[in-house]
Amino acid sequence: MDKIVIVGGRRLQGDVRISGAKNGALPVLVSSLLVDGWNTFHNIPDLLDIKTIRKLLGSLGVKIEGEETVRINAGGITRCEASYDLVRTMRASILVLGPLVARMGEARVSLPGGCAIGARPVNLHIQALRDLGAEVTLKDGYVEAKASRLRGATLYFDISTVTGTENIMMAATLAEGTTILKNAAHEPEIVNLAEVLIGMGARIRGAGTDVIVIDGVKSLHPVEAAVIPDRIEAGTFLIAAGMTGGDVRILGCNPLHLDVLIARLRDAGMRIDVDGEALRAAGGGTVKSVDVKTLPYPGFPTDLQAQIMAMMALGNGLSVITETVFENRFMHVSEMMRMGADIVIQGTSAIVRGVAKLRGAPVMATDLRASASLILAGLAAEGTTTLSRVYHIDRGYQQIEKKLSALGADIRRIAGF
Ligand code: EPZ
Repeated sequence: MDKIVIVGGRRLQGDVRISGAKNGALPVLVSSLLVDGWNTFHNIPDLLDIKTIRKLLGSLGVKIEGEETVRINAGGITRCEASYDLVRTMRASILVLGPLVARMGEARVSLPGGCAIGARPVNLHIQALRDLGAEVTLKDGYVEAKASRLRGATLYFDISTVTGTENIMMAATLAEGTTILKNAAHEPEIVNLAEVLIGMGARIRGAGTDVIVIDGVKSLHPVEAAVIPDRIEAGTFLIAAGMTGGDVRILGCNPLHLDVLIARLRDAGMRIDVDGEALRAAGGGTVKSVDVKTLPYPGFPTDLQAQIMAMMALGNGLSVITETVFENRFMHVSEMMRMGADIVIQGTSAIVRGVAKLRGAPVMATDLRASASLILAGLAAEGTTTLSRVYHIDRGYQQIEKKLSALGADIRRIAGF
């Protein structure tokens, strides 16, 4: 397994371009299952998770060409089963469930199994599919679903679930009648997916709000569309600029998707100027400690919680960081403490007492965003940080070490341990 080695203390300066959103590209690529014909999708990021979904779609008989611009055709689906060995490496594979049942009348998808950040069940996906008239059984660790044709219904998510909303929105596009989806998630990736589906001929209103209305149609047609920029990658680079006292221009992002983070970082003393699709971020001298509570969009994103904690580890006071979305998303804390951070976990909150300096150390990634936070801590720390299990970071960040070294960081990847 590769390692990433960072010698901290460099101020980041210069321009960095944001890639397409991982959590946007995954449902958009899966939406091709609803259509017989060649779709073209632009701004697809080069990530491990994208390689995994391409492998999964390929195993169903979907044809896929191209890299950043992908042409994809599900006209010749030969199989409706997503096997455990693929699903266990990426839980978002559950997204194929709804589209397969809607288009093919059946699906057999492995239950995702455990995850470092929480149990992350898919009960809401399953219940909603049943509400649309599918017969769903759980057998041998798989979800087996079938329906001659899904029927529109009014359904309500007890918890606002991102991929649950995406799964059911896709399934409902081909259902008989109207589906009203209440307590839907609002993430920008859902609005992006809705725009793609509407481009295919789906009839969807309200994406981005609590209530999404989908009028089912008989069939959809191919579309050409683009995936939105990755707001979590952009947020990670904003925080990197703040932690190193740097001055970075982040190109190709959508500042509107980052307003709550931008507000917090300004409270923490950063200067952030929005200029069209670019953000200019300069770290102030002192990092001011601020409190953060993660919430579903448009609240502070849980996917940036570990990263802001790395910054608050260098704050000038006390910061309370509360995680409300996942039940076990503090795996990065013990590794940060090995770098000298002063953090106490109390229930769903981490109490972070800022320290003057972090010290480089050998650390281990446990999940995607935890690994990003340890890289950030390494950039600001005194001395050398060696991050192992970097496959976690490769799932969600395109060539992060190349982008950071282009900004002046002393960071390199050592292949094959
Ligand atoms: C999506 O995961 C993202 N992944 C996650 O990003 C992100 O952290 C999460 O949304 C929250 O924003 C993708 O979009 C591929 P949820 P998802 O369903 O859809 C509970 C990253 O780092 N829940 O919105 O799986 C669940 O346990 C990843 O890029 C149920 O109880 O998250 C959680 O506590 C990590 N039953 C809460 O809802 C269900 O059936 C929100 O989860 C579904 C969810």
